[in-house]
Amino acid sequence: MNTEKENGLAVETRGLTKIYGGKAAVKDLNLRVGEGQIYGFIGRNGAGKSTTLKMISGLASPTRGEVSLFGKPINDPAVRRRLGVLIEAAGLYPNMTARQNVVMKARCMGLADEKSADRVLELTGLTDTGKKQVKHFSMGMKQRLGVALALLGNPDLLILDVKWSTVLIVYRVHSVQKESEKRTAYTKGTKKCV
Ligand SMILES: Nc1ncnc2c1ncn2[C@@H]1O[C@H](COP(=O)(O)OP(=O)(O)OP(=O)(O)O)[C@@H](O)[C@H]1O
Ligand SMILES: [Mg+2]
Repeated sequence: MNTEKENGLAVETRGLTKIYGGKAAVKDLNLRVGEGQIYGFIGRNGAGKSTTLKMISGLASPTRGEVSLFGKPINDPAVRRRLGVLIEAAGLYPNMTARQNVVMKARCMGLADEKSADRVLELTGLTDTGKKQVKHFSMGMKQRLGVALALLGNPDLLILDVKWSTVLIVYRVHSVQKESEKRTAYTKGTKKCV
């Protein structure tokens, strides 16, 4: 899906290949995703989707080929700070509430302000889960919480390896953020006029 902002490439892979035990999980993948785009790929089980996303996020090293994010190599610390990642199961603390999980990760990321925690809970529709511990969450709620954790720090690039049902949550988050950006632009415009 294209949106209005298309400056450069957020993701580029060249000849990306991963071999496990002599068999190619991903072979010669050349991918180009522009900034401002939502890009999704689907495929049968074992097609190599998770392996690709792990290599793009720096969680697995390619056997061959290269990955650039925002024109820079994935091991560049400045690039890593711009990434939000949810691959397969999110590391959730089962005895904590949704908010405690988010606040814990926010602190680990050096985000002292708890407003960012409340913001991602609101975006993913988890504000009202109160004292319920994550071990009592439904699968969908756990997936929402995984997305909330990935959204912390307001990443420029969000890499999500999620079930189809979760894509709808992500689409909702994207729409809410677009609306809020529009409102900010409007406010800025008003200020300019004053
Ligand atoms: N750590 C690993 N060691 C060995 N083989 C692996 C490893 N990870 C993935 N594979 C193999 O690589 C291939 C691609 O797996 P991958 O998990 O990327 O598929 P997928 O498209 O994400 O599948 P799914 O739809 O089930 O999530 C599979 O054949 C899998 O068995
Ligand atoms: Mg997978």
